Amino acid sequence: MVKRKRRRVTDAPVSEPAVRPGLLSPTRSVPSGIGRPPYAVSGDPGPARSSSVRTADEVERMRRAGAAAAEILVEAGRAVQPGVTTDRIDALVHEATIVRGGYPSPLNYRGYPKSVCTSVNEVICHGIPDSRPLSDGDIVNIDVTIFLDGVHGDTSVTVLVGDVDDHSRRLVAETRIAMDLGIDTVRPTQPLHAIGHAIERHAQRHGLGVVREFIGHGIGTEFHSGLQVKHYFDPRDDTLLVAGMTFTIEPMLTLGDPSCALWDDAWTAVTLDGRRTAQFEHTLLVTEDGVERLTVLPDGTVPADLFAG
Ligand code: MF3
Ligand code: CO
Ligand code: CO
Repeated sequence: MVKRKRRRVTDAPVSEPAVRPGLLSPTRSVPSGIGRPPYAVSGDPGPARSSSVRTADEVERMRRAGAAAAEILVEAGRAVQPGVTTDRIDALVHEATIVRGGYPSPLNYRGYPKSVCTSVNEVICHGIPDSRPLSDGDIVNIDVTIFLDGVHGDTSVTVLVGDVDDHSRRLVAETRIAMDLGIDTVRPTQPLHAIGHAIERHAQRHGLGVVREFIGHGIGTEFHSGLQVKHYFDPRDDTLLVAGMTFTIEPMLTLGDPSCALWDDAWTAVTLDGRRTAQFEHTLLVTEDGVERLTVLPDGTVPADLFAG
């Protein structure tokens, strides 16, 4: 018997009108007193070379960077409403980062021109903030990374703009749950592939696609280092987790086919079929008995809780 391909339960249409590139504002500057990552001038982070396990001192600094990233993300998310441009979100993130004594990690990372990624509707990730106003019914992922005291904190949420259709709301809610299920697998001696397995299983149950081209990553003194965290099951990823590892989990789920294309700007990744996609991200620490989310507010609040539709 021919194995029938699992039918997608969603009949969500292509997101219209398509997101189009807007105009970029001038490059924002960072005061000279602020500590910069090594790539800030050249754009080149060089080869990743840090250990996948953090020292106690690095962990303490990553807690502060993570909390700062969460606070900035909340500020940015609260600014979202119809009519607000993604460039306005960038300005806000840039200022909120500097006020905290940090450097916006995306700025000039491999030449990236802005201080945050804003990915609207069918944009999977790495959307560049521009003159496009958010529109009632959009969904937008805001992905904040701060470099503070020598370490990075990286976190994102997808926010609903005004009145959003049911398919998109479901996509956003299930993507967040998929991330949480991935996080729940994290503890010492668990294989890395348990994360992607849990995420993929949840996506499949809900008829959603999992983007394969972009993955989670080791993070610490470097923005992207060592560990590669797939959001689907790969039995070859049999590395066992060890207390002190820090990495992100940041699944991108789709209403349709997860295949992607790149805009001419060489950054903006979109779904090939034009249907919508959502993403959530935390920076995580493997602890002795499980996992700690580093990208939470100082009182422990998870930013996504403040934006749940
Ligand atoms: N924050 C993104 C991530 O989760 C990376 C953005 S790189 C940039 O890994 F250059 F696009 F900003
Ligand atoms: Co990341
Ligand atoms: Co990120």
